[in-house]
Amino acid sequence: MKRIGILTAGGDTPALNATIAGAVERANQLRIEVIGLIKGYSGLLNPEVPHVHLNPLFQSIPELDAARGGTILGASRDYVSADDRETIERVVSRLNRLGVEGLICIGGDGTLNGMQAICESLPTVLAPKTIDNDLGLNYADEPSEFSRVPDEQSPKGYRYTKAEERRFELEEMVNFATPGYATSVFVAAQNVQRIRTTAESHRRIAVIEVMGRDCGMIALGTAFGQPDMILVPEVPVDPEAVVTRVLEILDCQKHAVICVSEGIKDAQGHNFGAVRTVKDPAGNIQYSGAAEAVKQILVEQIGDAFFTRKRRNESADAAIFCRKIGHTQRGGRPIRFDRFQASQLGGEAVDLLVEGRHNYVATLQYRDGGFVHEGIDASRLRDRWGVIHARPLSRSFYDEARFRPS
Ligand code: F6P
Repeated sequence: MKRIGILTAGGDTPALNATIAGAVERANQLRIEVIGLIKGYSGLLNPEVPHVHLNPLFQSIPELDAARGGTILGASRDYVSADDRETIERVVSRLNRLGVEGLICIGGDGTLNGMQAICESLPTVLAPKTIDNDLGLNYADEPSEFSRVPDEQSPKGYRYTKAEERRFELEEMVNFATPGYATSVFVAAQNVQRIRTTAESHRRIAVIEVMGRDCGMIALGTAFGQPDMILVPEVPVDPEAVVTRVLEILDCQKHAVICVSEGIKDAQGHNFGAVRTVKDPAGNIQYSGAAEAVKQILVEQIGDAFFTRKRRNESADAAIFCRKIGHTQRGGRPIRFDRFQASQLGGEAVDLLVEGRHNYVATLQYRDGGFVHEGIDASRLRDRWGVIHARPLSRSFYDEARFRPS
């Protein structure tokens, strides 16, 4: 193999450049040229979007700094559909014109599904990444209790989602954290710790919202910053229970820090923060955002009793505040663990291509006291599932991670 291509797709993470650098370093050792494809799959479709040579004379270009966040290649959320023959042909003929003999896609579940469209025409390997840590290959476990959906027809009163049932059948499931996750947890946990001191000083309630789509891994990771309560999408939010617990916390420490995942749901499975209607005397009000919705419940249920009556100079609306940490979770430098993992996966992706693997996923697992590289055949997953889904938390993982403030 003389020349390979590499692209980054989907939402960025702080560790993308580390994966690119790991791949280029391994390619340098093997004397393989690496072409960087700009702006993911969408860049490939636009002839005006250029490509870059990442290792002329088998030396990495100076712009490629593994410690720098984001991606020097740019990313987009456009994917190629497996049914769109014309687009697939355009992508493949661009790669052929570039003389690329294999392709490394750095991405998550969306990228892996997009890769299915081109892997028949060209060897492709996924180097995984996502801050959400929800790649559908993670966490070998029994079906997640969180994936139960009410079903009156079933004698048990519930069934598992299709994706979860399929995942359970799958013996290839592996256990590893995707690059980007550790850094985003680090940032989120630090935010929780920082917000605590100000909440404590002013005797306030802080509601912090973290990313993660429908997976609570980032929220759960903020346990390192010791919030008083964590709400995750996999466990339906019971407003009454939240209020009771917050009152207990206030009783013992006069302030509270709550971390909520952006994807939290109500008992009916509706997104709690997308559009939540809470009735007030003037009619219906719509709140957007998970943290904002939780804040409003607290303002209505305990704001008056706890703040307004006791502290005449501060409204409940100010004393209960919410913050979205937002894209700071995806930005900036990767922490060392992410950088290590990401660059290892980049190097492994090159090795998998050189071994002649088609449609593989590079993984790095911690097993038996050491790191184990293991490629996973994505075609088997595709043939069995059709589509590779993002994965929610598993019940046992959640239970292990649960903690109570002392
Ligand atoms: O998938 C990564 C992620 O950061 C999610 O946690 C979040 O829901 C989403 O991307 C935000 O995407 P964007 O930055 O495109 O709005």
